[in-house]
Amino acid sequence: MPGTHVSGTDDGVVVVDYKVASAPDVVPQKCCSALESPQQPVLIDQLLGELRAAFKAEKDAGYIININQDPVSFKRLNQRVQELLKTYATSNPGDWQRFALFNDLHYVRNLVEANDDFELIVLCWRGGQVSRVHNHAASHCWLAVLDGEMREIQYQRANPAADGDEKPGDAVHVEVSNSTNMQVGDVGYINDHLALHSVGCYTSPEELSEWIALNGRGGRDGWQLEGGVTLHLYSPPIRRVKIYEDDTVTERTPGYYSKGGVRV
Ligand SMILES: [Fe+2]
Repeated sequence: MPGTHVSGTDDGVVVVDYKVASAPDVVPQKCCSALESPQQPVLIDQLLGELRAAFKAEKDAGYIININQDPVSFKRLNQRVQELLKTYATSNPGDWQRFALFNDLHYVRNLVEANDDFELIVLCWRGGQVSRVHNHAASHCWLAVLDGEMREIQYQRANPAADGDEKPGDAVHVEVSNSTNMQVGDVGYINDHLALHSVGCYTSPEELSEWIALNGRGGRDGWQLEGGVTLHLYSPPIRRVKIYEDDTVTERTPGYYSKGGVRV
């Protein structure tokens, strides 16, 4: 592994749709609903509007949104959210770039929007930057790859807590259960009932140069590929995450590197 685990925060997901590997160069358009034109570019403000509407619809119908959500409600919400993220990531208008701040020492979380229902975050990873193994509390977690190549590694607890709720200091051994490479446009989902995971950009500088040459990236809208960029949606927003490292559980509060494109 080219990178080391760093004191990062939260990230990624399980890939459930792994078919699209390229992002066509397109001109952003002020267009209609993503439902009406799923292949058309969707600007991030439009994505946010559609996401707010999708979550509001479930709440207005009386459903509580978390990992113990009513199955019918969750199936409907999950399908809609994945459709929206897929549309945005594959059309890839590039307007996410204003949120995409990087750090040389560790991957960073850049907040796009947080409200009562969800938080939408752009995570930026230089080559070799990898998250630690973590959970997602009682939240849903969706992820879409916007740039670069990422890898998601899932883990299962070898000795889960009897009540399923580990406490800081508990001894828990985790084992790899799956590993998946993710490309631009891939969308996935994970929650604590499914697995723990780590996410990272394992691309070396040499591989990055080759990838840019092969994919013709690094010039659109003046954007220079610097590693990997992922878009994460957590619902409800995650306040505390558990880290599984050295067979021990710790807990931390995830923070933001920037908000609205402005460093905090
Ligand atoms: Fe994650």
